[in-house]
Amino acid sequence: MNKLEGKVVLITGGTNGIGLASARLFKAHGARLAVTGRDPAALAAAQEELGSDALVVASQAGDLAEVDALLAQVKQRFGRLDVLFLNAGLSSPAPFEQVTEDQFDAIVGINFKAVFFTIQKALPLFGASASIIVTTSITNQTGTPNFSVYGASKAAQRSLVQSLGLALIGRGIRVNAISPGPIDTNAFQRLKLPAERVEAIHADIRARSPIKRLGSADEVAKVALFLASDDAAYIVGEEIVVDGGLTHVCLA
Ligand SMILES: NC(=O)c1ccc[n+]([C@@H]2O[C@H](COP(=O)([O-])OP(=O)(O)OC[C@H]3O[C@@H](n4cnc5c(N)ncnc54)[C@H](OP(=O)(O)O)[C@@H]3O)[C@@H](O)[C@H]2O)c1
Repeated sequence: MNKLEGKVVLITGGTNGIGLASARLFKAHGARLAVTGRDPAALAAAQEELGSDALVVASQAGDLAEVDALLAQVKQRFGRLDVLFLNAGLSSPAPFEQVTEDQFDAIVGINFKAVFFTIQKALPLFGASASIIVTTSITNQTGTPNFSVYGASKAAQRSLVQSLGLALIGRGIRVNAISPGPIDTNAFQRLKLPAERVEAIHADIRARSPIKRLGSADEVAKVALFLASDDAAYIVGEEIVVDGGLTHVCLA
C-alpha cells in the first residue's frame, strides 16, 4: 500500500544512512522527495538513485541562510510540504575537558538550533495536516561521557518535540521523534577512529545489547514511515525508541 502517495517530503541528511534508507522507503510508498546532504559524491549518488523527480540539495543544516534557500527551492518545486524529517546530525565526540567552544557551537547549531528554526521557517509550507519527525538518540536518556554535548543537544530535541507537539497540533501538524540506538551506518566511520577501535565498539554494543546486534538504517526507516503516515494519526509529541532494548539495560 502506498502510505505516502503524492505527499511532499523533505529529509535533511537524506543522502546517507537513516535518511537515505527513509528516502528509498518513502519513494516506494509514493512520496515526492527533497533530500539534503553536503558531500558532492553522496549528493550525486542520491540523485541517481532517487531519480530526476527528487530534489537533491547541497545544504548545511546549521546555516540558517542555507535553510531559507532550501525551503525556497522546495516551495518552488513542490509548492508545499507534507512531511519534514529533520535527520541531519553531528556527533563529534570528545572527553569533557577537551570540548572546544567551536565544537560545542557546531553540535548545538546543527542538532538543536537548526531543528528549531527549520521547523519555524517551514511552517508556511504546511497545509491542513502534516508530520514532522526529528531523529534524536538514546544518548538523550542514557548519558555517554564522550558525547556530553551531543547527548544534551539530543535531549534538547526531545524537549522541543514535546513542546512543539503541543504547540502545532492545533494546526494539524504532528511533531514526533525517533530515538535510535546504535545503527550500522557511516556515522561510525565519521568518528575517524582506527578500524579496530570501531570493531571493538561494535563488539561491546553487541555484547551489551539484548538483541545482540546493531540496528539497520532500514529498521529505523520503517518507524519513520509509520510516523510520517496516517498510521500515526493519533501520536503527538512522542519519541519512539528504536534500539533493540539497549536503553532498558543501560537504565536498569
Ligand atoms: N547511527 C547511529 O548509531 C545513530 C544513533 C542515534 C542517533 N543517530 C542520529 O541519526 C541521524 C542520522 O545519522 P546516520 O547514522 O544515518 O548518519 P550518516 O550515515 O553519517 O548520514 C548522515 C547524513 O546526514 C548528512 N549530514 C550530516 N551533517 C549534515 C549537515 N550539517 N547538513 C546537512 N546534512 C548533513 C550527511 O550528508 P554528508 O555525507 O554529505 O555529510 C548524510 O546524508 C543523526 O541525527 C544521528 O545523530 C544515529
